[in-house]
Amino acid sequence: MTTSPDRPEADPRAAAWLVAPRAAGVRDALAERGLAARVLAPRDDADGDAYAAWLQAASRGFLDAERTPEQISAARERAGRRRITGVYDPSGPMPDVPVATIGSWIAPLTLPGGAEIPSCAISAVTVAPTHRRRGIARALLEGELREAVAADVPIASLTVSESTIYGRFGFAPAAPSAAWRLDTTRATWIGPVPAGRVDYIPRAAARELLPELHERVRGRIAGEIPVPDAVWDSMAGTRPDAKDPGSVRAVRHQDETGAAQGVALYTVKENHDDFARSSASIVYLIAATDDAYAALWRFFVELDLVGEVRAGELAVDEPLLWMISDQRAATITLGDHHYLRVLDVAAVLEARRYAHAAVIAIELDDPLGLSGGGYVLAVSEDGSASVTMGERHGDAVALALGVEELSAIVLGGVSVATLAAAGRVRCSDVAVASRVFGWHVQPRLSFWY
Ligand SMILES: CC(C)(COP(=O)(O)OP(=O)(O)OC[C@H]1O[C@@H](n2cnc3c(N)ncnc32)[C@H](O)[C@@H]1OP(=O)(O)O)[C@@H](O)C(=O)NCCC(=O)NCCS
Repeated sequence: MTTSPDRPEADPRAAAWLVAPRAAGVRDALAERGLAARVLAPRDDADGDAYAAWLQAASRGFLDAERTPEQISAARERAGRRRITGVYDPSGPMPDVPVATIGSWIAPLTLPGGAEIPSCAISAVTVAPTHRRRGIARALLEGELREAVAADVPIASLTVSESTIYGRFGFAPAAPSAAWRLDTTRATWIGPVPAGRVDYIPRAAARELLPELHERVRGRIAGEIPVPDAVWDSMAGTRPDAKDPGSVRAVRHQDETGAAQGVALYTVKENHDDFARSSASIVYLIAATDDAYAALWRFFVELDLVGEVRAGELAVDEPLLWMISDQRAATITLGDHHYLRVLDVAAVLEARRYAHAAVIAIELDDPLGLSGGGYVLAVSEDGSASVTMGERHGDAVALALGVEELSAIVLGGVSVATLAAAGRVRCSDVAVASRVFGWHVQPRLSFWY
């Protein structure tokens, strides 16, 4: 599946998801609490006020200010790609303003080896502080997962405001991220001298190039999904309601043939006490080739008047660390970032590739009863795998784990050995299982949603 999240009509499953009503289970769970759930149609004029109220509720839930009419109309234009649900309390003083929100869409998720599987990408989960801890989020999230299973979507995904919320639903951090603070007064570039050239380009031109470049690289990086148009617009400052769009600078790398191979967006903050130690924040950096990677990072390491460069949502093993003279110039903070929740074990495990052939008998526990049971994963010498239900004895490596732990290892972001040492899985041969699930490219997701 190669659809963009902003063009779900290209994939029938993604298109059907957008308009699917909420299942009876969700509606019943909310009705027990005197509440009603409704799927909105943001681009339908008849639903105009409902979308504005939904957006205000979601904005309040994330501690943002009230949205202006300009912001609402910019958001509405970009809103077609998600199924958005509002939960309403008819007994309250503002029955048309949701007391809870959720949005989701079907996004192709890259797995180790480059295959894509449809993922139920979830965002905008909020419950009003006046209605918290009554089981509303649970009703919505469990509903979302069960509806994804019914729609044959094998995995769910999200990025989180707090790490403590989603484990109970079977989600686990599968692609970690690294935030860098680089002291460029200490770090000297020792990486290769890349071919090609770096130039400033208008923000709008960068905005045009970014989706195309991301399409080229995302198949190589497990954990990536397409970046929604609204997110590109926020990064490039190309939304009509962007605050201070002129602060975003854009540079492009071209190879010797003139083809664009990388783009970076960044902002700069002056340091009034020491002008030569101003700081630059990289909003997004994408490189489709090694030369583009080296050229763009060299640009930042050598930026005049800048003493510190910050960047987030990087891979945990950036080659950049080996391209600077002083590794201690980099302060790197690791964090949990892309959370996954396996729904269909066979579909997920058969789609990815493996580094080592073996047979693993998996005993999976799923507290929500969506995917638990016995599975036999048989990995061939060519790295492909087949999965059958049932138990297998004999030579198979035994691996007993919960759906959270399976979701954590599915991209190779953490090893079975680490989870075994943490007491999170039981395994009869940790070395073999770690080699099977490990992957040579660390998973990553380059943005938040
Ligand atoms: C997080 C949030 C959506 C939870 O909504 P809620 O309706 O209060 O959650 P529920 O009542 O359904 O709680 C379900 C379970 O999660 C737990 N839980 C809820 N919020 C939690 C939090 N922030 N941290 C840890 N646990 C949490 C509850 O204790 C409950 O646990 P239990 O079922 O084991 O008893 C809500 O507090 C909120 O909107 N927060 C601000 C916005 C936000 O951070 N959204 C998440 C975006 S990723």
